[in-house]
Amino acid sequence: MLLSALLLVLSPVLSAYAAPAAAHDSHDHEHTTAQRLPAAWYQPRGHPVHQLFSRATTDGVSYPAVGTPEWSQGWPQGVPDNTKLPSAWVNALNAAVAAGKIPNIPQSSNQPNQNPVYPQGLNPNSPEICSATYKCRNPEDIWDAPNGTYATSFDDGPQPASATLLDFMSANNVTGTHFMIGTNILNNPDTFAKAFNLNHDIAVHTWTHPYMTTLSNLDVLGQLGYTMQLIHNSTGGRVPRFWRPPYGDSDNRVRAIAAEVFGLQTVVWNQDTNDWAISTNGNTVDKVVSTLTGYLTGPKTPGLIILEHEIVDGTVQAWINAFPMIKANGWNMISLAKIVDGRSYQNAAGSSSDDVEPGDILVGDENNSTDTSDDGDDSSSNATS
Ligand SMILES: *[C@@H]1O[C@H](CO)[C@@H](O)[C@H](O)[C@H]1NC(C)=O
Ligand SMILES: *[C@@H]1O[C@H](CO)[C@@H](O)[C@H](O)[C@H]1NC(C)=O
Ligand SMILES: *[C@@H]1O[C@H](CO)[C@@H](O)[C@H](O)[C@H]1NC(C)=O
Ligand SMILES: *[C@@H]1O[C@H](CO)[C@@H](O)[C@H](O)[C@H]1NC(C)=O
Ligand SMILES: *[C@@H]1O[C@H](CO)[C@@H](O)[C@H](O)[C@H]1NC(C)=O
Ligand SMILES: [Zn+2]
Repeated sequence: MLLSALLLVLSPVLSAYAAPAAAHDSHDHEHTTAQRLPAAWYQPRGHPVHQLFSRATTDGVSYPAVGTPEWSQGWPQGVPDNTKLPSAWVNALNAAVAAGKIPNIPQSSNQPNQNPVYPQGLNPNSPEICSATYKCRNPEDIWDAPNGTYATSFDDGPQPASATLLDFMSANNVTGTHFMIGTNILNNPDTFAKAFNLNHDIAVHTWTHPYMTTLSNLDVLGQLGYTMQLIHNSTGGRVPRFWRPPYGDSDNRVRAIAAEVFGLQTVVWNQDTNDWAISTNGNTVDKVVSTLTGYLTGPKTPGLIILEHEIVDGTVQAWINAFPMIKANGWNMISLAKIVDGRSYQNAAGSSSDDVEPGDILVGDENNSTDTSDDGDDSSSNATS
């Protein structure tokens, strides 16, 4: 197996960072759980994810250019209507539920800007629920980078501020993983296309950025499915491999829907700069740089997955200011989506996006990219309206 050489036994982090009480993606996580990345996170051949997204070049589909009126038509304008989801997605969910693969965990509830709360008597840290918001680490999720690695990622793009970030990274020959919000892609097609064309890795950060554990199964489906579909339709048929829950809010039910229906692996983080608060004047560029300095001069075990955002100029500037310290402190810097085995898309055969075979969804067998059962017309997946 490709992944067997990459099993990581990760140890507790030596320093704990106490985040100020705040809401947006801002849960500080204690680092007390040893964990191991799965040998194979992805779904076996024949898994329903094969059916969910139409194929690109090999079935003659030609996608409208990103940013054109044709491209922006037909997507939910806000929270997806869960009575209008593509039947292929709903059928795949129902099959996964019937097969006992989606835990029957009650939805949490929350007040704006507060952590979700489960019905009384339920322990969010129990093995049955394992809420990432409450710092429960499910071993199937990614929280840490390999020792010595700085895994680059940014959330909440694309935004106008992303252009500055991308130009800077380009000038420095580095790429990153962008956990993108579907509606932001619709609103910022230029920065989306810029990230993709510069070979950055595109990942899923939901359609409208909700607390996912508060949603019904169908609403989880819409939040993930439309974001995947829009990325797929905007990248010549690539199927993203990774998603990050907004606010880090996921549990065993949500992560199972992501994995079982869509083949998505959940990625959280192990450090948090609270840089998002620069956008609301609740933090400053200098303070974020100072926090980043602490991480970058700190222990190398485990490697760093820092929550950072491309929301506004300030969050981008903080990272740019801290950037020289990554190399200066000897970190191995790599786009987060490449820390597992170099592949950032489910249908990518190799480590670079040039190797993608857009016409073939590849799940679980890297060498079998010519499986004809996956090719051809896939009419069941076109019902995106
Ligand atoms: C990472 O570093 C920790 C602490 O030094 C060590 O226990 C662990 O074995 C290392 N992991 C790998 C995969 O080398
Ligand atoms: C996305 O692409 C598929 C073809 O793969 C197409 O059927 C569908 O209409 C597109 N969705 C939208 C909203 O354009
Ligand atoms: C980036 O790569 C190019 C071509 O390999 C090289 O000329 C340039 O010096 C590099 N720039 C940096 C900042 O590493
Ligand atoms: C895929 O092919 C490579 C080289 O051809 C081989 O080393 C590897 O074991 C194969 N992987 C699987 C899963 O068959
Ligand atoms: C590829 O997939 C086909 C059909 O699923 C299977 O029969 C074949 O053994 C696979 N080949 C490899 C190299 O795994
Ligand atoms: Zn976010």
